[in-house]
Amino acid sequence: MDLLENLKKIEEEAELALAGADSLEKLEELRIVFLGKKGKITDVLKQMGKISPEERPVIGQEANKLKDRLNKLLGARKEELADVVRKQRLEEERIDITLPGTEVSAGRAHPLRRVTREIEEIFIGLGFTIEEGPEIETDYNNFEALNVPKYHPARDLQDTFYIDDHYLLRTHTSPVQVRTMARQKPPIRIIAPGRVYRSDEIDASHSPVFYQAEGLVIDKNISFADLKGTIQLFVQAVFGEDTRTRFRPSYFPFTEPSAEVDISCVICRGEGCRLCSHTGWLEILGSGMVHPRVLEMAGIDPEEYSGFAFGMGLDRITMLKYGINDIRLLYENDQRFLHQF
Ligand code: DAH
Repeated sequence: MDLLENLKKIEEEAELALAGADSLEKLEELRIVFLGKKGKITDVLKQMGKISPEERPVIGQEANKLKDRLNKLLGARKEELADVVRKQRLEEERIDITLPGTEVSAGRAHPLRRVTREIEEIFIGLGFTIEEGPEIETDYNNFEALNVPKYHPARDLQDTFYIDDHYLLRTHTSPVQVRTMARQKPPIRIIAPGRVYRSDEIDASHSPVFYQAEGLVIDKNISFADLKGTIQLFVQAVFGEDTRTRFRPSYFPFTEPSAEVDISCVICRGEGCRLCSHTGWLEILGSGMVHPRVLEMAGIDPEEYSGFAFGMGLDRITMLKYGINDIRLLYENDQRFLHQF
């Protein structure tokens, strides 16, 4: 057998095998098969004894050349495979910078808070200041000083959470009137938003905890016309220029005369619909001229000064403004609801 031909065959075989090797392990296997101590080239060299001494150097040279060549091919193929592995890894670990990041959701103001702020801004624009009072009030500030003496039937109108004979959870923001008049001489122009409590059953329009804003203006020559003008301006600022206002005679112990204020329905604009019980009007606040007795009790001379007051439900105004039909939504803090505002 011609050893040269043998080497040629080995070369062809090796080239083919190396080109087809698809892993570093496979390459190592091939290296052993062709170049190893018991490999195919060594096999050829072992047969040198069978050939003539003249031929030996030629075969030896050719065998060495083949070894060199195969080593080079092996190295090159190794590089190629390493490159494939590197690319594969880069692909696997690739970061898609176009993917949206983890959302960091920003907090936002609760609808009640938004409306409260809006109302505060309106009254600040009219020269009012913001006042606050405690939620735990005295019976005196909540009732007595507002012309609601003990056993007065008006106390039945409000289901009060009493703490003891003396303290209670305020049932309205009106005691802030009393506190302000005790501290401040007229002229007074305040708006007092805050949380109030009544022992009501919870339903779509009642919550034992809710929000009101109280208004009080006291100065010389304050008339019912000032009350009407102020309320009208406020209503138009909150509900829109084309919203109409209606004053209806009413009764509150702390005002005389008293009036309830309706606005033209925010849904049907006065046509009549389910929201306004087909009247075209929605009640939004109570108001009146401060009762002379209330002024007197606060040490303000009713002969010299007069004033008006009003109280509104902030929950109701928020609900009307945003079309919310259940007050409980304002207190459950369901993120899906709150994120709409
Ligand atoms: N305090 C009343 C209530 O809770 C609302 C109110 C009516 C306040 C007339 C006033 C007022 O200041 O003048 O129902």
